[in-house]
Amino acid sequence: MRVLGIETSCDETAVAVFDSSYGLCSHALYSQVDLHAKYGGVVPELASRDHIRRIQPLVRECLHSAGLQPADITAIGYTAGPGLVGALLVGAAFAKALSFAWQIPALAVHHMEGHLLAPLLDKEQPTFPFVALLVSGGHTQLVYVKAIGEYELLGESLDDAAGEAFDKVAKLLGLPYPGGPLLAKLAEEGNPQAYDFPRPLIQRKNYDFSFSGLKTAVVSTVQALSEAELIAKKADLAASFQQAVVDTLVYKCHLALQKRECTTLVIAGGVSANRALREALGNLDDVSLFCPQLAFCTDNAAMIAYAGCQRLLAGQQDDSLGIVTRARWPMVELPAL
Ligand code: KG4
Ligand code: ZN
Repeated sequence: MRVLGIETSCDETAVAVFDSSYGLCSHALYSQVDLHAKYGGVVPELASRDHIRRIQPLVRECLHSAGLQPADITAIGYTAGPGLVGALLVGAAFAKALSFAWQIPALAVHHMEGHLLAPLLDKEQPTFPFVALLVSGGHTQLVYVKAIGEYELLGESLDDAAGEAFDKVAKLLGLPYPGGPLLAKLAEEGNPQAYDFPRPLIQRKNYDFSFSGLKTAVVSTVQALSEAELIAKKADLAASFQQAVVDTLVYKCHLALQKRECTTLVIAGGVSANRALREALGNLDDVSLFCPQLAFCTDNAAMIAYAGCQRLLAGQQDDSLGIVTRARWPMVELPAL
């Protein structure tokens, strides 16, 4: 089976082809970063309009670079949620139109399941069951994964997601959008012990997260500094904030692995690109860590084509021509394969 994957849930238009025998054939992506940068964040209406402009050329480019024709595609997997509704509608409508024109099945794919399965695009794959830490701009979740589609939500963020906290603190430190990766870069030059920021909810023996208090602690610290001090201490603030996030995530992962007597950990989502987080989780004793390739940590269509392919192979597909998207969509509602 050869699946065309389409991803338009936020500010990246992405297309990929995954072949169940060969693996990933090609992937193409257009980032809207420049479009949204001057507003300091994603403007949903602009995102939707830009997806409309980019999607068709990207499909052509993706097929061309794989040396494929439309007739070589056997099914379509598209992101139907969670995400920005207008942005999702573009990908979903385009996918449904292609499915009708090419007379092939289409399937609504869950964006976070795509992230979760991204490490399975690699040759060396985790074996089930495993604990997964999903850390993106919109979600922070710890999930116990028995098999594809068999997800038990262990805990999640009660307020800001980890990526959101990175972005907000980056903005506070005067870094341009999208701040997370820039903050991580700045943190490499700073002292992670310079400020003792809180490790939220670490005292509670559950798997929930909360990053808004940590963000407020950084705000208070910054407000107490003069402009000159802030410039001098920026890297230390970034490093100390990052360390607090990393310590919290590592602690909760360790707890989940211990309680579930599990030795396999998967991390995925934009923040899984963070080097300090990867290193700290990689240092956990007796734990095999699986991370996606850097290109597949942040939003991409390879993960959507892959997730779609697994479900389409199991016979799942959308039966109607109706276009359904879901801004909110709990992953535990997904059917098993
Ligand atoms: O998974 P993703 O591309 O989009 C969502 O589904 O939300 O994640 C984007 C998030 C952003 O908040 C971004 O700042 C964060 O991932 N991010 C990082 C790094 N790279 C991306 N955060 C920390 N360190 C990084 N290296
Ligand atoms: Zn994402």
